[in-house]
Amino acid sequence: MQSLNGSWRFRLSPALRAAPDDGWQTRAVDDWDAIDVPAHWNLQGFGAPAYSNVQMPFPVDPPHPPDANPIGDYRLDFDAPADVVAHPRQLLRFDGIESAAEVWLNGALLGTTRGSRLTHEFDVTDVLVPTANRLAVRVAQFSDATYIENQDMWWLPGIFRDVALLARPAAAVDDVQLVADFDPATGEGTLSVRVRATGAARVLVPELGIDAPADERIPAGEVEPWTAETPRLYDVVVRTADETVSMRAGFRRVEVRDAQLLVNGAPIMLRGVNRHEHHPERGRVFDAADARADLLLMKRHHINAVRTSHYPPHPDTLDLFDELGFWVIDECDLESHGFEHVGWSGNPSADPRWRDAYLDRMRRTVHRDKNHPSVIMWSLGNEAHEGANLEAMSRWVKGFDPTRLVHYEGDRGSRYVDVYSRMYASHAEVREIGQETVDALPYDADADTVRRASLPFLQCEFAHAMGTGPGGLEEYWDLFERYPRIAGGFVWEWVEQAIAVTGDDGVRRLRYGGDFGEAVHDGNYVIDGLVSADREPRPGLLHYAAVIAPVRIDVAGDRTGVRIENRWDFLRLEGQVALTWERRVDGRVLASGELAVPACGPRLRAEVALPHEARVSIEAAVADVVTVTAVGVGAQPWADAGHVLGAGQSVVHAVAVAPAPSADASSARPACEIDAVTGELTRIGSLPLRGPSVGLWRAPTDNDLDVADDELDLPPVATRWRDIGMDRMVPRLQQLSPESGGTRVRVRTGAPITGLAVDADLLWTPVGERAVRLDAVFDPVGRWPHAWARLGLDLVIEAAPAGVRMAGLGPMPSYPDMRAAARFGWYDLGPADLVVDDVFPQESGSRRGVVDATVLTARGGLRVRTLSEPFALTVSPFSRAAIAAARHGWELEADGRTHVSVDLAQSGVGTATCGPGILPRHRLTARPLSISLLLEQVDADAAEEPDEPA
Ligand code: GAL
Repeated sequence: MQSLNGSWRFRLSPALRAAPDDGWQTRAVDDWDAIDVPAHWNLQGFGAPAYSNVQMPFPVDPPHPPDANPIGDYRLDFDAPADVVAHPRQLLRFDGIESAAEVWLNGALLGTTRGSRLTHEFDVTDVLVPTANRLAVRVAQFSDATYIENQDMWWLPGIFRDVALLARPAAAVDDVQLVADFDPATGEGTLSVRVRATGAARVLVPELGIDAPADERIPAGEVEPWTAETPRLYDVVVRTADETVSMRAGFRRVEVRDAQLLVNGAPIMLRGVNRHEHHPERGRVFDAADARADLLLMKRHHINAVRTSHYPPHPDTLDLFDELGFWVIDECDLESHGFEHVGWSGNPSADPRWRDAYLDRMRRTVHRDKNHPSVIMWSLGNEAHEGANLEAMSRWVKGFDPTRLVHYEGDRGSRYVDVYSRMYASHAEVREIGQETVDALPYDADADTVRRASLPFLQCEFAHAMGTGPGGLEEYWDLFERYPRIAGGFVWEWVEQAIAVTGDDGVRRLRYGGDFGEAVHDGNYVIDGLVSADREPRPGLLHYAAVIAPVRIDVAGDRTGVRIENRWDFLRLEGQVALTWERRVDGRVLASGELAVPACGPRLRAEVALPHEARVSIEAAVADVVTVTAVGVGAQPWADAGHVLGAGQSVVHAVAVAPAPSADASSARPACEIDAVTGELTRIGSLPLRGPSVGLWRAPTDNDLDVADDELDLPPVATRWRDIGMDRMVPRLQQLSPESGGTRVRVRTGAPITGLAVDADLLWTPVGERAVRLDAVFDPVGRWPHAWARLGLDLVIEAAPAGVRMAGLGPMPSYPDMRAAARFGWYDLGPADLVVDDVFPQESGSRRGVVDATVLTARGGLRVRTLSEPFALTVSPFSRAAIAAARHGWELEADGRTHVSVDLAQSGVGTATCGPGILPRHRLTARPLSISLLLEQVDADAAEEPDEPA
């Protein structure tokens, strides 16, 4: 094989009719520009990218592309290596061209291409010459095929995957279909190797002592099966007289039994993500190191399944899935979602004229990837509605490859699929679906219902990871684990598809739909991943990892023992994990040690006793915390030994001791000063600040800005908040009077237009010269029709933030419905850890369960301790109004102040951008709340050293 990747010549025309017919296939093209292959031309300075989701970027007028259809002409002059030419046949292979091309070699038209994310091969035996070959490819950005390639992603045309020349010998192996079955009853494997070759072929598996003729059933004896947890591969060689093909076999059996998804006889749980190929500079162009890094990052976060949304990825990705261990739904390159806007009229899925195109795509997907054990299901495509062409695809797959299951979410009746798949089904509906196989079916159930009830259920998309979120993952997972029928799900989606543009000023800015002047676009709906485009984990990924962690640990409240749950489907705990425990009192480690790992098989639980030192009572000032952690004992390709596989805690908060008020408050400079006009503080000690004001609002998250699937009759919560003026509340001082050595301030904070308000009763009592105690009581006024985003005390310190030291839940941000990973600890957050650098700015960065925190600024620190309940703390260099007004992260400018919110309570975040909104139990309905705090000015360096850096 010889790669033809590299620098080619390129010319762009604005339309097919404008593309010159000037002998470009063979003439000298030194006047053309240079372009990289593989690449997307609109990320190489030719035109601009465009993003749209469901809407087609041009009129729905099938099968016609628009006149304004960018045409890229490519040319490469090359010499064929002598040993390639010496072979009897040669092939030219393209791994991906978006969207359609005609391919010429030495003035001869080889053919045309369709199927952007599929392989195309041309036999060039009669056309190739030893030297000075002229390869010419004319690529149209849009074509008839665009109607069935309308996935939610950027429009990125060009030769974007590898190009290669293949030499083929006389006795060639033209195709191999390798089926490696595993019988869980006997532990034995069987190989069936169908070979299309010129002449006889043999199959060799040296490790198993196999050397047998192809096309026969080959018993392999006892083998170690392949699973995503134990990705055991055996080297297989298929050989003819002239050619040796090296492959890797994974022995496994995929089945559906009793509405359960089984592999090797055992039920599996898909802890999945949807993965698009995306790089902020390169788009969908593959890079082996990046792809591996992506999958390793997934493995580190306990993700064990990938849906290749919504097309087959670069072929080498499949090797990585096999090697690292992932359950894969390999999806055909097919989506006709644009027809939704015309009521699905003319949808190709139901039009016989498109049947061959549909079957062609499916066959090419299956043929390309059929030998990968990681692939357990073939997906017909995404959001192509219904129709006979999809059924025909399914029929073909079932006939060709009965060893895997057929998936398609759009088959609403589950008539031609093997799994019941849905996207964004609510918690309530997931419960119903789970229950369906528990309850007896009604007597009058029709055949479709009966068949559906025999299928396992999965969510091919759920929990839309857009912006701050997704909320509600734990509740989903509880249901997934409760019902045997449920085989898990795939979070939408792995990576934010931002495109980075470095301006003339040298600044790199992340952009989304509409930023390139598109006439039709879907804004930032493409920024919805668990990791940023630069692969920084978003908080949602950290919480997802905790929700799906392979080891669940519950520390008993009395600290006598620990309940350990093995959530793997195949691995045992012993031999895989080590258990450590640690007791920390007020940040200092008092005792720690190892616990014996109990014998515990997959999906089972065990109890382990804790040593005496974990329980003896000790006086803590802040908190007494026992943490039990399960770590991996062996190094893995994705992590060193010691990688955390699960953790649990018991936290005992100290009973806060209220400090005595100043003995003689009048003699010294008072610890705080209160503005007689507003009732706000103007300083604590010598730290200048303003506040607190009462805050009910947050800068809307993407989820707050969208209509929730479970509240389709209501506007988005952000609109509801705005409609009642929650973002513009104004204070009215009701009372300011001295009281028992302090000052009582009563403020009513009301929403304009309405009579809605919150009354705050704040009693300030100085404690020494630099501290003040606050006893605050809040009462809602009026009938609040909507939940509050939060109830908080908002302070603005007149100095830029420098970080936070805190004792509380962290180190990552968390919200009431997005919190699984947050553990109690003593954390040191740097300025960059305070808020998330969202592409689309929104509320972020809240830390919950805080009992003691020092907000560090350029002018010293403000320590906030609770004397009653823990609070949630948000510290930001930006005001909420500035965040809500900005459309891109890079538009936000710090105002030199530190914006601090001490929230008594908050609403969750939900996943309304796709799916349910904030679950009722996580909504902060208007209610009376109170808190007592100690606020104190501290020197920035005087704050206690934390033990756990964030
Ligand atoms: C789904 C679709 C995905 C993506 C998601 C929203 O309906 O399958 O491709 O568009 O919604 O981000």
